[in-house]
Amino acid sequence: MKARQPIVEIAATGRYLPERVLTNAELERTVDTSDAWILERTGIRERRIACPEMGAAEMGARASRQAMERAGVQPGEIDVIIVSTATPDRLLPSTACDMQALLGATNAAAYDISAACSGFIYALGVAEGHLAAGRAEIALVVAAEKMSGIVDWGDRSTCVLFGDGAGAAIVRRASGQRGIASIFIRSDGTLAELLWRPAGGVRIPFDLTVLDERSHLVKMAGREVFRAAVRSMAEAADQALLRAGLTGEDVDLLIPHQANLRIIEATARYANVPMDKVYVNVDRYGNMSSATIPIALDEAAQEGRLEPGSNVLMVAFGAGFTWASSVLRW
Ligand code: ACO
Repeated sequence: MKARQPIVEIAATGRYLPERVLTNAELERTVDTSDAWILERTGIRERRIACPEMGAAEMGARASRQAMERAGVQPGEIDVIIVSTATPDRLLPSTACDMQALLGATNAAAYDISAACSGFIYALGVAEGHLAAGRAEIALVVAAEKMSGIVDWGDRSTCVLFGDGAGAAIVRRASGQRGIASIFIRSDGTLAELLWRPAGGVRIPFDLTVLDERSHLVKMAGREVFRAAVRSMAEAADQALLRAGLTGEDVDLLIPHQANLRIIEATARYANVPMDKVYVNVDRYGNMSSATIPIALDEAAQEGRLEPGSNVLMVAFGAGFTWASSVLRW
């Protein structure tokens, strides 16, 4: 497939991680698990947990301010704010509108998208569409997730996996070869019930039965999700590379969604990218849903792992199921 010119580029990124560290050793005291099991099965050592007053909007606003400062963008210059979150502060209005108010981005349109762990790449695609159509010049793309607020802390098969955090990117029109070379997105809604929150929406509203059954919290068929994640992330990696006219050998840094080290290793193997070119921080933060990729991208940029012209392959998978990938020329 012939590569196309980038329409948009990421001008700068930012991140926010709560200070509170929750270690595997602490979890050993609250559920029947062990540091050894968590580390062996997932690669996670610790994760960050936001304080009760801190929501997705506040975390996202902090990440956004960092990205705006680095890009030299003032709040009033932002035309659109697109927020990916599976953990909105409230069900109405959107977390993006709350974030807009916190940032004072008075000239922006703001709204949320729901694509679970794949949401950051989906949101990049939405931003690209706004700029391509001439509706916006500067987009703020944010992924903000307070997974600690929707996890069942009594369920050892899920509570050890997740953490909180936010990442942000300023997206503007590309001026040369730098920018988003490809985006691939896909979903399969027939598999929704393998990873979901069954109740708490309008179909099964929150009530005492829901509370008793804890069905407003995350439920997951881990083994099935694992298999689907490996399969779908392999396809996604292939598709983003194909659309950018590249192969695995051209990848300078692979940034996979950080859910499980074994899924990351399988994705790298399928994409033909050696592990020294794979960004891994799942050991420090666990799975922060859609925030994992922008946080990893920001860390990689700040650590000097990206040079002008680097080819970055981002690949994600999450509830829905949704999967997505993108090649970014840094
Ligand atoms: N501590 C100790 N034992 C545990 C724990 C725990 N925290 N959790 C589960 N177990 C037990 C199970 O009860 C089971 O015991 P049994 O054999 O007696 O029934 C045993 O460990 C094996 O369970 P499996 O579910 O088969 O373990 P698996 O190796 O598949 O690992 C895991 C489980 C880590 C959840 C894995 O399936 C996984 O990572 N799946 C992907 C899930 C994910 O990341 N979802 C997030 C969103 S999608 C995404 O981001 C990719």
